[in-house]
Amino acid sequence: MDKNEIIRILNDWNFWEKEQETGFFRHDYISRLEALMTTGQIAVVTGPRRAGKSFIMRQMAKKLITGGTNPKDILIVNLEDPRFTLAGTALLEEIFEAFMERVSTGKVPVLFLDEIQEIDRFEKWVLMMKDLGKAKIVISGSNAKLLSRELGTLLAGRHLDMTVFPLSFAEFLEFNGCGPQVETHEQERRAKGLLIKYIKEGSFPEVVLSAAKKELLLSYYEDVVNKDVLRRYRIRKPQDLRAAVKYLFSNVSSLFTFNSMDRSLGMSITSARNYTGYMEQAYLLFSLKRFSYKLREQEKSPRKIYAIDTGLCNAAGFRFSDNYGRLAENAVFLSIKRRQNVNPESELYYWKDELHREADFVLKGEKGIQKIIQVCWNMNDMKTRKREIHSLSLAMQDLKCGNAEIISGEEEGEEEISGVKIKVTPLWKWLLAARTGD
Ligand SMILES: Nc1ncnc2c1ncn2[C@@H]1O[C@H](COP(=O)(O)OP(=O)(O)O)[C@@H](O)[C@H]1O
Ligand SMILES: [Mg+2]
Repeated sequence: MDKNEIIRILNDWNFWEKEQETGFFRHDYISRLEALMTTGQIAVVTGPRRAGKSFIMRQMAKKLITGGTNPKDILIVNLEDPRFTLAGTALLEEIFEAFMERVSTGKVPVLFLDEIQEIDRFEKWVLMMKDLGKAKIVISGSNAKLLSRELGTLLAGRHLDMTVFPLSFAEFLEFNGCGPQVETHEQERRAKGLLIKYIKEGSFPEVVLSAAKKELLLSYYEDVVNKDVLRRYRIRKPQDLRAAVKYLFSNVSSLFTFNSMDRSLGMSITSARNYTGYMEQAYLLFSLKRFSYKLREQEKSPRKIYAIDTGLCNAAGFRFSDNYGRLAENAVFLSIKRRQNVNPESELYYWKDELHREADFVLKGEKGIQKIIQVCWNMNDMKTRKREIHSLSLAMQDLKCGNAEIISGEEEGEEEISGVKIKVTPLWKWLLAARTGD
């Protein structure tokens, strides 16, 4: 490609001659990314489409500039820009050359390569650049497998990941013009009201800020299904894939098996398993395994399914809008997942016994089971209340874990289970505390 043309395209994404829109700073991610960058490894930013990865990279660049880095020592490349006509690592090579010749001040630059999975065999190129000390590198992409497993084997020990999620509740409050501090009665009332909005509409940044929420969510849904799944994996029966997506979305916060997909949808178990895997790799859905000390049992048991965003469940037409309990459980799941960024060794499961009594989340760390969490939205319903507390006490006995918590819709207080005191925390409060890693 012509160098002038390359520089013209790059100019649109960089801070060389103009300011770029950076939106609301997402401080938790920026400090995490900063920490990854100072290790000298390749920093990898992953996460679903539209979660805000490009904005976070731009915010990081902005922070470097504010800290004294010359904008001309930073190169941001959007590899999805359709004006790039070259393919493969040759494109990266030409872009880098044009930048070094026309823009760079001669210092080792910081490269932000956005949506890198567009480039075949990018791994070797970024590794070479890093090993030769030619650039500091941050890459991003929206496919878990491309960015983690395959990259993992090649970059073994030479990269560090960070997953970007739609907004946490604290971020959501900020995007809605409130601080994360909830101290006064008025602030508490506001936070409670916004919680309902949070679980109904979800928290993709653009959706939160826009009036046309449903349209946006539907277009995200179509984009992920079409681009990240159908096209990427060259699915031959798109109608089967769509049926599988719909099935899984309708079963959010519920148990499912590949067998049951086979029975309800008439697709083979292999297809059901593959499709579920593709959707997980595109960060549209997550499946959660049952806790068991026996690996075989863990694999054999049904899984629970959760979506990347509760708004997406609603918009895609699965009528969850009145089922706050399921959406709340999904929101708790996402909040735990967000924290795994900071503590990637922690593992997450659900618990169930032979009589189908369940506890929602079991957190396991290096030293064993850390905590059991039960989400019980409506604690005023005595039957539900008794059932949920009883199941939780069984899980605590079975796992020999005295650290448990109940997350409720509104109630706050304490329950005593077999002599152990259990905290009951309303969801809005729990979500805000989750930020500090409580
Ligand atoms: N921090 C933010 N502040 C304001 N708006 C944001 C922010 N992050 C994302 N957005 C909005 O969401 C859209 C998608 O974000 P983007 O960073 O492009 O996502 P991704 O790169 O993960 O696909 C942006 O175009 C912007 O409208
Ligand atoms: Mg992007």
